Amino acid sequence: MCAKADQHCHKREEHPEVFTIEVNGKNIVAHAGQTIAEAMLANGLKVFRRTRNGSPRGPYCGMGICYECRMIVNGIPNVRTCMTPATPGCKVLTQDESLMRVE
Ligand code: FES
Repeated sequence: MCAKADQHCHKREEHPEVFTIEVNGKNIVAHAGQTIAEAMLANGLKVFRRTRNGSPRGPYCGMGICYECRMIVNGIPNVRTCMTPATPGCKVLTQDESLMRVE
């Protein structure tokens, strides 16, 4: 992952400063160096997941401890979006705990 293009590689042309990510089917603007959670909050999106009884939840700690910001990112559930850099074209879905099965 190259969230901080200047520090991780020198291919700046592959890491635009402003790009879009897809959240629940809608494109939102993200900036290089932002996490997915930062980009969502900057775009006014506050519901990151829903509990089993449907209650909306969003980021609480912002540092990877509480797991309240977990979402489905590129098909992978339970991704802590406050710890995950936004990358061009990534696809993010609200995680609905009522639809997830525990076996
Ligand atoms: S906001 Fe607490 S883990 Fe992401």
